[in-house]
Amino acid sequence: MLIAENIDAGYGDVVIVHNVSIKVGKGETIAIVGPNGSGKSTLIKSLLGFACLFRGRVFYQGKEITGITPDRAVALGISYVPQLNNVFVNLTVAENLEMGAYIRKDGTVKADIAEIYRLFPELEARRGTWAGNLSGGERQMLAIARGMMTNPKVILLDEPLASLSPKSTSLILSKIEKIRDSGTAIVIIEQNVKKALDSSQRSYVLVDGTCVLEGDSHSILSDETARRRYLGLKA
Ligand SMILES: Nc1ncnc2c1ncn2[C@@H]1O[C@H](COP(=O)(O)OP(=O)(O)OP(=O)(O)O)[C@@H](O)[C@H]1O
Ligand SMILES: [Mg+2]
Repeated sequence: MLIAENIDAGYGDVVIVHNVSIKVGKGETIAIVGPNGSGKSTLIKSLLGFACLFRGRVFYQGKEITGITPDRAVALGISYVPQLNNVFVNLTVAENLEMGAYIRKDGTVKADIAEIYRLFPELEARRGTWAGNLSGGERQMLAIARGMMTNPKVILLDEPLASLSPKSTSLILSKIEKIRDSGTAIVIIEQNVKKALDSSQRSYVLVDGTCVLEGDSHSILSDETARRRYLGLKA
């Protein structure tokens, strides 16, 4: 579905990501994990035109999309849910969802919102609430729901579990699983290494902008050296 090959990326003339390749298939979840500042967000942003792509090639559904703009990415079916400021706090839940469909002119927005509420009944119950008054978990749900309003084939979630309670974390992960089961490819960028690996098929571990490890998530999680050396988990 989405393939990135030999990516160098950064900002201005600073290279932050070095020679990283990733891919994600239909109905698959991949995780990109690594410490603070390791370049996870930069990698993903560079694929969609939010950061500089210095080298490498990007393919989507078999076609090259290297150097695409953010708008074009959304129009093609690639949705990005940023790490911060991912909802409009001064709009209600329902208005946020309507805004999420801004690129669409096909008149099915109402039906799609109804569909989104089936996946997120918690949001329907809060549809008239200002997004700024939602709990952390609800707000993250809304951000993901907004990202789904463009009917993406791939959704990239930048730290969807950041600062959530254990209960909200489980809830968000169950929603992500449902989205994947509906056929959407998912890329999760996370500092919560254990949860991210647990809920993905394959993973990439970034350290200082370089991919130091990649493979089957469960194999990585059960590899003692990987746990100790790269994941900061107990053996
Ligand atoms: N807009 C920007 N302009 C210049 N440098 C940036 C910008 N955004 C991030 N950086 C730098 O790029 C490096 C990698 O940051 P990035 O946000 O990609 O890391 P990350 O792995 O997503 O970290 P985190 O887990 O904290 O989100 C950091 O050194 C950061 O300071
Ligand atoms: Mg980040």
